[in-house]
Amino acid sequence: MISPIVSVPQGGVPAQTSSLVEALEGGAVLVFPDLDFPLSPFEQRFVERPFADGKAKNVNIRGEAAILKGAAGTEEERAALRALLIRYRGFAEDLIRTHLPAYAGKVTLAGTSYRPFEVDQRKLSWRRDDTRLHVDAFPSNPIGEKRILRIFRNINPEGQPRLWRVGEDFGSMAERFLPRLPGYSPLSARLLAALRITKARRSEYDHLMLHLHDALKQDEAYQTSAPQADVTFAPGQTWVTFSDLVMHGAMGGRYMLEQTGYLRVADQADPERSPQRILARKLGRALR
Ligand code: SIN
Ligand code: FE
Repeated sequence: MISPIVSVPQGGVPAQTSSLVEALEGGAVLVFPDLDFPLSPFEQRFVERPFADGKAKNVNIRGEAAILKGAAGTEEERAALRALLIRYRGFAEDLIRTHLPAYAGKVTLAGTSYRPFEVDQRKLSWRRDDTRLHVDAFPSNPIGEKRILRIFRNINPEGQPRLWRVGEDFGSMAERFLPRLPGYSPLSARLLAALRITKARRSEYDHLMLHLHDALKQDEAYQTSAPQADVTFAPGQTWVTFSDLVMHGAMGGRYMLEQTGYLRVADQADPERSPQRILARKLGRALR
């Protein structure tokens, strides 16, 4: 089954969907076509040219202090860009409270990013190439028993859509790829943490997700012939998905805002639908 795209009308829950949380946990991408997030006249400049130092993929703020990283511009402009990202973080929080009330107070908001570059202009190694279908996994930041919830918004001023493709459901993908992944070594996980290559101990789940991410991106035949569908997100649209569950690739577009949130597996409506539990079921045992 290919990940469903569920459009959420102004009034709330779309027909044929009993709840947005249920659709999300089942691997849908929720699209909110017309939520309000206006840019001020001063902020228009952030969608006219990239205010980025070009060293990192994106500009972002992180944590309570919301320190701005990777930005370019005058002091005034950098302060305004930081304020815009903080406002977007608030917008994402409101969206969760309003449309995903079961998660209210349970999602920890992590990084907020401004992505001003055209998706495929940048020459990246296959591992960093997000045009290839993948699930998100962070090499240095083990996620353990948490889920990755992401809230995106296309802020392109010239009508340019953000183009994605989405792939087959996580379970089908895992069945195909699990047999080829290298085994987990608790010893090397401890070593990576001791050497501070990872910020915490890499669990077996983290190990599997990293190797899935890499195996998926490296498999040219899978990339071209696996079940998939093109998706178009118009300017002004906001979309929400579990990017650790939903196979996705970004194919085009520029100027986007993104909020990452973490939700504990235990705080899901149905923890059994997490990639953590799906992988354990496919392996026939608990993960270490
Ligand atoms: C990704 O998460 O793979 C990239 C999403 C995007 O840049 O649209
Ligand atoms: Fe991704």
